[in-house]
Amino acid sequence: MSKVIGWIDDRFPLMKMWNEHLAEYYAPKNFNFWYFFGSLALLVLVIQIVSGIFLVMHYKPDGELAFASVEYIMRDVPYGWLIRYMHSTGATAFFVVVYLHMLRALMYGSYKKPRELIWLFGMFIYLVLMAEAFMGYLLPWGQMSYWGAQVIISLFGAIPVIGDDLTLWIRGDYVISDATLNRFFSLHVIALPLVLLFLVVAHILALHEVGSNNPDGVEIKKNKDENGIPLDGIPFHPYYTVKDIVGVVVFLFFFATVLFFFPDGGGYLLEHANFVASDPLKTPEHIAPVWYFTPFYAILRAVPDKLLGVGAMGAAIVLLFFMPWIDRCKVRSIRYRSNIYKINLAMFVVSFVVLGWLAMQHVTATITLLSQVFSLLYFAFFVILFITSKNEKTKPVPDRVT
Ligand code: HEM
Repeated sequence: MSKVIGWIDDRFPLMKMWNEHLAEYYAPKNFNFWYFFGSLALLVLVIQIVSGIFLVMHYKPDGELAFASVEYIMRDVPYGWLIRYMHSTGATAFFVVVYLHMLRALMYGSYKKPRELIWLFGMFIYLVLMAEAFMGYLLPWGQMSYWGAQVIISLFGAIPVIGDDLTLWIRGDYVISDATLNRFFSLHVIALPLVLLFLVVAHILALHEVGSNNPDGVEIKKNKDENGIPLDGIPFHPYYTVKDIVGVVVFLFFFATVLFFFPDGGGYLLEHANFVASDPLKTPEHIAPVWYFTPFYAILRAVPDKLLGVGAMGAAIVLLFFMPWIDRCKVRSIRYRSNIYKINLAMFVVSFVVLGWLAMQHVTATITLLSQVFSLLYFAFFVILFITSKNEKTKPVPDRVT
């Protein structure tokens, strides 16, 4: 074995990479369960790519055949139902895991200097993930695929001057059609996954360049032993590779429960209208995006003017990119930050969840009013953070991890 590795090592930096990123990557010894979600996101990425490869073997990206080919996968392809539900449940799992992963970064100030680029790569990953999920949802070519895409693409029409041409360019036709399905297929199965993979590699390289943050938000590189090894660091392998297995087992338990017992999630994961073939002449009664988009959809619906609504929705995402500069507090972890920060972050999470729920309801005057209130709360997070973080009253931060 060592001869084989030696032979490879003379030609390729195998052991060098293994050591740099696993055996000699020193991670803080105080990681808690919040640190599972990065490796879980990697696991879901693999699940999506593998199940996706098998789906493509039977799926037909053709306006005449797409819907039936999905039915064929579900009924006739051996274990086709399993492959398809793995992929659809995987989409939901991806967003659950990524949202928790992002919340962890917000709680422990992991976006702060010197980790701004890790956060920015993460935000680009999030954008690409949203595009990937949106385009994937058109492929089953059901009623919600069709009309959901219709609603979202038409949003680009609100942009002054170029709006109409832009929507035409995106669709590749005057209506959503076979041309749209084909380009979405191409982007979903190859272009966006490539970008995603590239971004994930960049994300992890940036992380390993500066080192991981931790629940205490203290820099472990400040205290090193005579060999230059952080006193509070432990080798990622075997300590965290083994610990992460615990996270993987718990995750797979939930994943399998949904996959085998509630694959449509009561209409929230696979919407009922999507079990009906797309019909350009018949609009479904209630069009709502899948749950992971709904907070932003609620912000869009809260603003009466279409262009301003699109702007507010865009701003809701763009503001997150600027977190490293909006939050001016020197202390990273929520453990040592002020109550204002804790309440502000809690309100932000609540407003995000409530907005997500509101967008799933039929529009009434009350729902619209509530959406407006919670949209304001959502944006208030950034304003309050920017104003209060500079001179925030923080608790003393320990020198070493606790
Ligand atoms: C495909 C999606 C993603 C994958 C596979 C991924 C993977 C990882 C991994 C493996 C880690 C190290 C382990 C950990 O800290 O949990 C990590 C850390 C991190 N990720 Fe992600 N990530 C993804 C998306 C995101 C997103 C969307 C954001 C935020 C916008 C983000 C922000 C961060 C930050 C700030 C860290 C450093 C955390 C710390 O050191 O405390 N990631 N990511």
